[in-house]
Amino acid sequence: MSSASKLRFDGRVAVVTGAGAGLGREYALLLASRGAKVVVNDLGGSHVGEGASQRAADVVVDEIRKNGGEAVADYNSVIDGAKVIDTAIKAYGRVDILINNAGILRDRSIIKTTEQDWNLVHDVHLKGSFKCTQAAFPHMKKQNFGRIIMTSSNSGIYGNFGQANYSAAKMGQVGLANTVAIEGQKNNVYCNVIIPTAASRMTEGILPDILFNELKPSLIAPVVVYLCHESCTDNGSYIESAAGWATKVHTVRGKGSVLRPSLEDSVTLEYVQNAWNQVTDMSQAKHWNSNAEASASLMEVLEKLKSGDKDAVEDTFSFGNRELILYALGIGASTKNSNDMRFLYENDADFSPIPSFFVMPGLMLTMSSSLVSSALPNSQSDLSNILHGEQYLEILDDLPTGGQLVTKGKVFDVMDKGSGAVVVTDCISYDESGRQLVKNQSAVFVVGAGKFGGKKEPIAGVVPLIAAPSRAPDSSIQYKTDDDQAALYRLSGDLNPLHIDPNFARLSGFKTPILHGLCSLGFSVRAVLSQYANNDSTLFKAVKVRFSGPVLPGQTLKIDMWQQGKRILFRTIVVETGKEVISGAYVDLKEVSKAKL
Ligand code: NAI
Repeated sequence: MSSASKLRFDGRVAVVTGAGAGLGREYALLLASRGAKVVVNDLGGSHVGEGASQRAADVVVDEIRKNGGEAVADYNSVIDGAKVIDTAIKAYGRVDILINNAGILRDRSIIKTTEQDWNLVHDVHLKGSFKCTQAAFPHMKKQNFGRIIMTSSNSGIYGNFGQANYSAAKMGQVGLANTVAIEGQKNNVYCNVIIPTAASRMTEGILPDILFNELKPSLIAPVVVYLCHESCTDNGSYIESAAGWATKVHTVRGKGSVLRPSLEDSVTLEYVQNAWNQVTDMSQAKHWNSNAEASASLMEVLEKLKSGDKDAVEDTFSFGNRELILYALGIGASTKNSNDMRFLYENDADFSPIPSFFVMPGLMLTMSSSLVSSALPNSQSDLSNILHGEQYLEILDDLPTGGQLVTKGKVFDVMDKGSGAVVVTDCISYDESGRQLVKNQSAVFVVGAGKFGGKKEPIAGVVPLIAAPSRAPDSSIQYKTDDDQAALYRLSGDLNPLHIDPNFARLSGFKTPILHGLCSLGFSVRAVLSQYANNDSTLFKAVKVRFSGPVLPGQTLKIDMWQQGKRILFRTIVVETGKEVISGAYVDLKEVSKAKL
């Protein structure tokens, strides 16, 4: 790289606190080598904050000067921040960069930490950073340029035995930086946090030897110095760096859960207990850029409560070619059948989703949220006591081959069947532009959750089943499932261990893992599509099934079909046992393919 393209700091004045040793020394050397005039601040005391000496700062100033750079020493404690900054103003007339780096340790377990241990560590790290920053800020604001670094630590972020005082002070720097970043933003005064791990006298004897040798402070200096360059516009970032590696670190917040049914209700301990899994679920955690953004999301929760839509839960579901093809394989589509290529190859001229793929977003929401358990007065539900009872899927618009769907779901009905409860959920999935794409209605049977005095019959709106005619089927198709059918199918998203883990299956009352009900549904929809719609997905409108018995991977499914106009009634039987596994089922088509009329 030519020197012309190197990042320079000519004309800039940098104050580096605690620059007599360790990390601070490296920052000072690098800044000076790139043209900055450097104030090398160091009190020169011991690592536990005792004594003082001018030597530490002087040695580094000499080193800089020997290398042709410009530097002055400052021997004040950072607690006297105004004096430190004054050294810069007196020597160079300005201050552009402040690296708050000075630090000491007074490690003791919480029980043994004295008030002095606490105060001294807080004074040097937190109060010192505050004082120096406060003194530098007006100069930076006036000149419309400033770069400030706070130094935090993994001990603050994750905690570390024996460092209660230090951890608290180090997390304090993060809070301080957050606000300084906001206050400086409009004047081009940016404040970021470094979370270093480096070999220094501070970490000697704490870090293992092998690590110690690899953790040269000089490997972190370029990261910190880059953050101080005018071309770096990060503000409020936390950057962790060690051993020639760096990353941004974020705080995230989970999706959370509403803890009361309506605005009129108070929050009870039991509501909290019920919702706890969702409160602590971080699978949809997100970073918020500002307090305002985080508060806005709280307002949304309040709006939901006000509109009485508190039971509605929401989830996002992303898919593309890969998911569609994996699903098609999971329900037995095969390249051996040329008419299946449209489901298996993204470059096929007719590439399209098998419509039953769209049971997924509804199922994911029903199973992953506390929708089901929130509907049951006395009992918890988990994967080991839930059985999928019925499924209805309706396609409401043209299906895309990829995108992100937002699914909104709620409990639609609850029935008390004695030995268990039936919970019916309704889920609607929308595409990015808010178009309603699919509706799913799932009925799940929660074993052992009955006898709560609820009603037995469904309310209107629970999509009914239709019994198969007594006449011989108009057509039948057989598909042999693979021994690994469930292992393949589960990769589409339903990871319930019941379908792969023998121990879990036994716990749930089965001898071996069983096939997903929705996998048998997929096979059945394929049969109807191939028999009555020439595999044209766009002709598919809806499917309703009842899962009436388990299927084992490897068994053969026989789908018996009866045509009633555009409605194809069907049942699915396991050939090896003669047992019916899907009953009362039908597919509604928009039209029956000409070839079959
Ligand atoms: P170090 O002990 O080598 O350097 C710290 C310097 O600060 C010393 O030269 C010391 O004399 C000076 N100092 C102490 N109190 C002062 C005061 N009141 N006023 C002015 N100067 C004072 O330590 P190291 O490792 O270079 O640490 C630098 C910073 O990085 C510290 O804030 C430390 O907490 C932080 N840090 C270091 C980590 C590491 O792995 N080395 C890990 C996480 C954070």
